[in-house]
Order: sequence, then structure tokens, then C-alpha cells
Amino acid sequence: MSTAAEWPVPQAPTFYFIGVTTGHSSAMVLFPRWMEALGRPEVTIQGVDFVPHDRPARYRSLVEHIKREPLALGGLVTTHKIDLLEASRDLFNRLGPYAALLGEVSSIAKEDGQLVGRATDPVAGGIALRAVLGDGYFGRTGGHLLCFGAGGSAAALALYLIRQEKPEDRPRRFVVVNRSQPRLDRLRSLVERLQTDIQFEYICNQDPRRNDEIMAALPDGSVVINATGMGKDRPGSPITDAGRFPFRGVAWELNYRGELNFLHQALAQQKARQLTVEDGWLYFLHGWSLVIGHVLHREIDPATFDRLAAIAGAVAPRTGLGARTERS
Ligand SMILES: NC(=O)c1ccc[n+]([C@@H]2O[C@H](COP(=O)([O-])OP(=O)(O)OC[C@H]3O[C@@H](n4cnc5c(N)ncnc54)[C@H](OP(=O)(O)O)[C@@H]3O)[C@@H](O)[C@H]2O)c1
Repeated sequence: MSTAAEWPVPQAPTFYFIGVTTGHSSAMVLFPRWMEALGRPEVTIQGVDFVPHDRPARYRSLVEHIKREPLALGGLVTTHKIDLLEASRDLFNRLGPYAALLGEVSSIAKEDGQLVGRATDPVAGGIALRAVLGDGYFGRTGGHLLCFGAGGSAAALALYLIRQEKPEDRPRRFVVVNRSQPRLDRLRSLVERLQTDIQFEYICNQDPRRNDEIMAALPDGSVVINATGMGKDRPGSPITDAGRFPFRGVAWELNYRGELNFLHQALAQQKARQLTVEDGWLYFLHGWSLVIGHVLHREIDPATFDRLAAIAGAVAPRTGLGARTERS
């Protein structure tokens, strides 16, 4: 049984990083440098690892700890965004609109003595997707969107696309494949609460050969996203090596570290299929800068973001795409 004593009382202003293998994240190396650059070198980072779907009491005791301790400033949540909120919803004084709609928190901050939870993925994932696709991508190409995985980040991207005002920024069709049914049902119920002309299709499948067929049926220019965590959180890829990416399409792996099998499958076809291949680096940077902004009560404007990104580019050990010289 977890108790509050599991979490040491902070001795300095502390930012909590709640994940699965936080010690391996570039954020642990980057955070002190980012704090220097923001003029807050006294703020330290504390990684907290939970196993996926950990015990609700354990999530709850950490949120109670952050709420209670004056030097606990707040933090960033990965992987456990839904489970943590489900275990501790009543401890939050306020939720942002995306957090309420998606039922998850990725940012925990304190404002005027209140504990505030926000979901940052629709904004961070949306900015990263827009950076890859540019304006009017779906109108220009007629491509559809195929997302492997129906978890938190898939729901956030769906919400981002539904909210696009210009028709040319919305795909005509959004196909989502998940290995089990519950997350598909959760996404369907979110989409049904919103007004959209995007045609959503929900497929329950974990056979990579069937995923290859689903991908092969996409029109040219389609966007294929790996939001399963396969290739980082668990081994493998949702597709086989024989799966063919859409011609002149986009392959987006949401992670930037790990084996990244899906990313490497896409890179192997990049020339022949004229693919744009992207990893999760920009998503990572936008996610962190948004949450740091909330926790430190500081606006991260584009110039500041560029400074933080430059520090990250110089310091972090990259896998996947390596140097980012070919992209902005
Ligand atoms: N770069 C960044 O900053 C950034 C930001 C957000 C997310 N990410 C990464 O993106 C990944 C997804 O994040 P998330 O928050 O959406 O995670 P999540 O909520 O755990 O969702 C992952 C989903 O993928 C499904 N899945 C697993 N294997 C599958 C397979 N073979 N075929 C189809 N579906 C499969 C899972 O199914 P079940 O429902 O059956 O478990 C789950 O619904 C994570 O690895 C995360 O680290 C990166």
C-alpha cells in the first residue's frame, strides 16, 4: 500500500516528471539547462516512474503530495494521463477545457493556491503535425489519415483536426486501428460529442498483415501515424516490413527514442515512395515547453521556444532521424 511517505518532501522548488522510464528521457538532461536559460536554475526535476495502469492509490498519493508541498511546483505527465486523472479528479480545483473533454492531464500546475490540470497534447501534437504538413495539406493532396493506436495522443490529434476551421486542413477520412476495443469506444464517444464532417472509422485489430492491407488501401498523400508506443514502450511495429506506405504520403512516429521500428520501415521506403518521415522530437519539445510555461507561470514565446529547442538539439542524444538539418 502506498503512503504519502513514498514521496520525499522537496528541499528545493521541484518539477515532477511522471512517466514509465523517466531516467532514460532526454528531458532529465535538458531540464537543468532549460531552467538556466529561463533564469530559474533553482528549479530541480524529479522523475517518478509508474508502471502502466499502476494502482489508483499510488497516483492519488502523488497528486496529494504535489498539492500539499509548497516546494512542489507541479509537473508533466506522460503515459498515465488518463489513469492519473481518474484516480485524483477531485483533488484538482480546476481542469482546462481539453483536460475535461479528453479526461486526461499532461500538465499539473498551481495557480493562486489552486491545483490546475490541463491536457496539452491537442496543442503540442497539433503544432507538430502542422509543422510537418503545412497549411491546407488535406485539401492539396486529398490524403486520408490512418492512426495506429487509439490512446490519448490519437484522441488529441483527432480533436485537433476536428477543430480545424478550414476544410482543407481536415482529412476527409480518419481511420483508427487499436488492438483492443475499449480505447476505440472511448474515442468514438468523444467524436460523437463533437460536430465534425470527418468520416471516422474504428477498427479493432492487432494483426500487422491486416494493418498492411488497411495502409495499402489509402489514397496517395495519406498520413500514417504510429501512436501505439510500439518501437519504444513495447517491441515491434504495427505493420510488417512488407507494408507499403502511401505514395507521397507522410509517416509520423510519435516517439523519438527507442527502437523506432516503424520509423525505420518508413525510412527504408522514403525515396521509392517519396515519403515525408517525421519522429516525435518536435512534439516532445512543444509538449515540454507548454507545461514548463504553465508550471513556472511564464509565457514561452516563439523566440524562447527556439532557444529551448536549440539547447535540446545541441545536448540531447538523438536516435531515429539524427541531425535535424534537413528540416526546420
Ligand atoms: N513525442 C512526444 O512528445 C509524445 C507525445 C505523446 C505521445 N508520445 C508517444 O506516443 C505513444 C502513444 O502515446 P499515448 O499517450 O497515445 O499512449 P496510450 O494512451 O497508451 O495509447 C496507445 C494505444 O496503442 C494501442 N496499441 C498498442 N499496440 C497496438 C497494436 N499493435 N495495434 C494497434 N493498437 C495498439 C493501445 O491499445 P490498448 O488500448 O489495447 O492498450 C493503446 O490504446 C507513446 O509511446 C508515447 O510515448 C510521444
